[in-house]
Amino acid sequence: MTTATAPGKIILLGEHAVVYGQPALAVPVTRVQATATLSPAVEGIWIEARDLGRRYRLEAAPADDPLALAVLLAVRACGAQLADLGPVTLTLTSTLPMAAGLGSGAAACTAVVRAVAAHLGRPLAPAATAALVFETEKVLHGTPSGIDNTVIAYGQPVFFIRGRPPEPFAPARPLHFLIGDTGQPSPTRVTVGDVRAAWEAAPAQLEQVFAAIGGLVREARQAIERGQAPGALGALMRANQAQLEGLGVSSPELGRLIAAAEAAGALGAKLSGGGRGGNMIALVTPPVAEAVRAALLRAGAVRVLETVVGPAGPGAEGDA
Ligand code: PMV
Repeated sequence: MTTATAPGKIILLGEHAVVYGQPALAVPVTRVQATATLSPAVEGIWIEARDLGRRYRLEAAPADDPLALAVLLAVRACGAQLADLGPVTLTLTSTLPMAAGLGSGAAACTAVVRAVAAHLGRPLAPAATAALVFETEKVLHGTPSGIDNTVIAYGQPVFFIRGRPPEPFAPARPLHFLIGDTGQPSPTRVTVGDVRAAWEAAPAQLEQVFAAIGGLVREARQAIERGQAPGALGALMRANQAQLEGLGVSSPELGRLIAAAEAAGALGAKLSGGGRGGNMIALVTPPVAEAVRAALLRAGAVRVLETVVGPAGPGAEGDA
């Protein structure tokens, strides 16, 4: 039996503008995980997606099935044949909420690629894994920037510009985030499409907004790496949220959670991911974390996760 996992992710700053070549910052969230297990079967290759309540033969999967595609791509990248897997069942479970902006699809496919490669005795480097998962993201999302598969496959904070190798970065001091789920699905494909329509209608104006967001992202990276007081990052998050509202990708529910978090003492809060639902993030200090969590739940969050992005080094990574 071979098991592999992959974390979730949040985008700290820069979503949407990242599709247009601007940088974005993303960090893994190890508290939520997708897990893929390969175990011997009597015959054939089976995929069992427990959370979707589906069990099907790999050969019978449609061409746009991301899990089957992940298996095929991983086998090929390992220089092997499907038959080399032997009769197996690939079981997939996940603690990530789906369509919530935490990267559930990319995490699932990353876990599958890792499990297949490990089963074949040919572990793949993060860059290779990210490239394979990007192919499955295209099937799921149309024109993804590649940020989800990258941060999840690398498993560390990244400064990401589309089409370039990611630049992993480490905060100089721990940053505490609460992740509040609106409970509404985040239709990334729809919001990305709407932003594209706005850009096609007024390219110069939208390019200005994207460039302004890119500027916030670069400032945020500096603030994080230099260990500036977290209030600086909080202000940049608030400015990014204002730009995202201008792009029309926030929602009343996200706005409610963001306002509640800030009123309860968060240093800054914003939507994270595609928007119009899904999750928001709030930067907190440990003394106010509980008050902000309670405020988020009172304001309608269906769940609140806490994650700490730590300086590089042993024991630094992880979530509370
Ligand atoms: O909704 P998510 O977490 O998959 O994030 C989408 C991020 C966007 O910038 C809106 C799209 C992309 O492909 O980068």
